[in-house]
Amino acid sequence: MCQPVSPLSGNCAEIISRDISDSCKVFLGSFFDVAHQQIKHHSIDMIFADPPYNLSNDGFTCKSGRAHSVNKGEWDRSHGFEEDFRFHCEWIAACANLLKKNGTLWVSGTYHSIYLCGTALQKQGFHILNDVCWFKPNASPNLSCRMFAASHETLIWARNAPNGKHTFNYDSMKNMVCEKDKIKNPGKQMRSVWMIPTPSKSEKCMGNHPTQKPVDLLKRVVLSSSNEGDLILDPFMGSGTTGVVAVNYGRRFIGIEKDSGFFNLAVKRLEDAYGSHVKNISNSNNKNVLKK
Ligand SMILES: C[S@@+](CC[C@H](N)C(=O)[O-])C[C@H]1O[C@@H](n2cnc3c(N)ncnc32)[C@H](O)[C@@H]1O
Repeated sequence: MCQPVSPLSGNCAEIISRDISDSCKVFLGSFFDVAHQQIKHHSIDMIFADPPYNLSNDGFTCKSGRAHSVNKGEWDRSHGFEEDFRFHCEWIAACANLLKKNGTLWVSGTYHSIYLCGTALQKQGFHILNDVCWFKPNASPNLSCRMFAASHETLIWARNAPNGKHTFNYDSMKNMVCEKDKIKNPGKQMRSVWMIPTPSKSEKCMGNHPTQKPVDLLKRVVLSSSNEGDLILDPFMGSGTTGVVAVNYGRRFIGIEKDSGFFNLAVKRLEDAYGSHVKNISNSNNKNVLKK
């Protein structure tokens, strides 16, 4: 077990919640506070977590042919190796309490964070099922020309219990049509390298989040490892991509975000997704898993 520590990043004194629908609820606040105060233990089927990368170190990258700061925001600054590792241990321990026994956790990150997360997962007793390479064919070039151009992120997929039966929708993955993915052979097993471009302008039309994930990436995550009506949690919701996909595919959703600007962006995207897909949403609701 990892040592519990006090939350590093809970900067919202109050928790504000918003019901997008009976099946979709979002919280403005720190994940640690919401997890502790609002969500019942062992109630969540699947978690997708995209925690801070801790890569905002005042360096530069290349965007549209120009030098561009790598800084994503204060929330993404590193607090040093030990503190970053404690942060990852703490949120992963909280997720273990919220997940059902056979529930699974996805963690997404770059080399700045993903090895710490992988170690924290193993310390916590998670059983790692896969690490998936998300290859970005349109990634930015490297400006220094002294190393390879970073063009992938890693997703770790792990089961809460060492033994057990987790959800994996093998056939849907095998038969998924992935037009932009030259690695996926139609009708053949889905491999652990996914070729998916970064979000298009149309996916960002409601506002900007510096690390917004593509809908196509979350579609594979959600459809592979959850079923209709399952309850999905995103502890670091950002612009709400996980929720948009959950709503589109009839999953229930709880999202948490501590920044009010990003929270408002997620609400807009979720309301839009809900409006478009209202007929497909499952009738079940979250009431029986939220503490009150
Ligand atoms: C890497 S981004 C997630 C991006 C998201 N997957 C998307 O598609 O937009 C991480 C997010 O976590 C939020 N965050 C950081 N610490 C948090 C905490 N303790 N509780 C809740 N949200 C937090 C940040 O404000 C940021 O929006």
